[in-house]
Amino acid sequence: MAAPSSSSQSSTATPPTTHTTLAYTRTSEVEDLPHATKKPSAHQEDGRPSQEARDYVRVIPIPPRWPVVDTEDLSRFTITPQRMRMIVEAFKETLELGLSKPKQVVPMIPTYVFGWPSGTERGEYLAVDLGGTNLRVCLVRLTGAGKFEITQSKYRLTEEQKQEDGQKLFDFCGECLKAFTDLSIENGEFKQGEILPLGFTFSYPCSQDKIDHGELIRWTKGFGAPNTEGRDVVEMFRKSLALHNVPAEIVALTCDTTGTLIASHYVNPATKIACIFGTGCNAAYMERVRDIPKIAHLGIDPDAEMAINCEWGAFDSFEHEHLPRTKYDIMIDESSNKPGEQAFEKLISGRYLGEILRLVICQLIDEGTVFLGQNSYKIEIPYSFDTAFLSLMESDPTDELLMIIGIFTHFFALETTLAERQFFRALAKLVGRRAARLSACGIAAIVSKMGYLEEGCSVGADGSLYNKYPGFADRVHEGLQDIFGEKGRNIVTHHAEDGSGIGSAIVAAMTKVRKDAGLYPSL
Ligand code: BGC
Repeated sequence: MAAPSSSSQSSTATPPTTHTTLAYTRTSEVEDLPHATKKPSAHQEDGRPSQEARDYVRVIPIPPRWPVVDTEDLSRFTITPQRMRMIVEAFKETLELGLSKPKQVVPMIPTYVFGWPSGTERGEYLAVDLGGTNLRVCLVRLTGAGKFEITQSKYRLTEEQKQEDGQKLFDFCGECLKAFTDLSIENGEFKQGEILPLGFTFSYPCSQDKIDHGELIRWTKGFGAPNTEGRDVVEMFRKSLALHNVPAEIVALTCDTTGTLIASHYVNPATKIACIFGTGCNAAYMERVRDIPKIAHLGIDPDAEMAINCEWGAFDSFEHEHLPRTKYDIMIDESSNKPGEQAFEKLISGRYLGEILRLVICQLIDEGTVFLGQNSYKIEIPYSFDTAFLSLMESDPTDELLMIIGIFTHFFALETTLAERQFFRALAKLVGRRAARLSACGIAAIVSKMGYLEEGCSVGADGSLYNKYPGFADRVHEGLQDIFGEKGRNIVTHHAEDGSGIGSAIVAAMTKVRKDAGLYPSL
């Protein structure tokens, strides 16, 4: 078994006190592309060089080693405010459709998490988080008044584990949890013989009929474990817990965004929406039950509230009607293990941004524009260009762009000229900014659907892109102002509380309280 990294922390979490928003600035088309030069169509119909091409040769001096690229494709990375507003409208309609009918592309999953936490939730809970990159197991002690303590271990998932039989993957989770609970008992954190309630965070779209059930609709984020799609993952995980004799009882299945919504509200009650911008992307918010027509038959009080896991990464899947895709996006989609699916996520999330940039660079290599005479096999390996490199490239503070030199020499054995490095950095900016602006469109769709613009709202956000990509949050805020004008300032994102550990434990606690009180005990 992989060696866990373990940590323990205790917190008296307080609401965030400062938020920075950028001054409202509009963005211009393909700005910051010092070397992107529009290629004219080179020939007339009769095959002779066109006037445009001749002017181009005459008028635009191009220093010999600068990449000359077709800006038409690159300009599609820029999303104008007008285009953003169109996307928001379509997004909003999609969200409403998902609430009204089952089995829609954006499934708008009712989570059976009823309303907000009171902040008084108490007790000890286990939390297991099967996310995109790691498996995390936690022991959470909720001590009331928005306070908690957490002990956790993390296990890195291998690429093979993501593709092997689903039951084996859950068995691995059970085995890790068993090791963790044994250690916790040894450390006196809970007693031998005690069965702890468990919140299971499974961050893939699952359709739920009740809180401790979820049929996997489809794997995302590159997972493909067979024999899992269409099956109840809670049932599968229960089997693994029994196999390893784990002293835990699954009381709630959540996804990371729902957990983030609940955990963020637990410490900052102004939070109304939660988003994850990490390996995958998604959002959750609290909806009025009367506005979820597809569950009307359950007879739940229409004035009650329920968290909705939007699974918005699926927006514009299959039809590709609303989002402007470049040829690089199409290449990623078509060569992925799930062509057509997760269309929004593929333009935004950390799993894909590095790959998008790599594909642009590979095209320049094919055209003989960069790295002439060098062996470029390393950068030609799919997914070899980590999204973390984009963060580093954008934040390189040196004039010579030494960080970028380091990335290309160290990881890809490639020498770069300063002009190439400036160009690559500009490309990273285009890709990173597009991701943030599209993310703003998703947030804006929920804000406008729920009528939060006037009163404003706080959006709890988490994930590697949000936390580590320089300027991501500022660009989201800038995007919200491009969509809504000055009022966009009323919507502020902040770093969220740990959804899949604390959030999942709070959801488990809320569920116990609800069921003990006899409120919808079968849901
Ligand atoms: C999954 C969501 C998850 C998101 C962020 C997406 O790929 O479908 O369930 O919330 O990634 O982790």
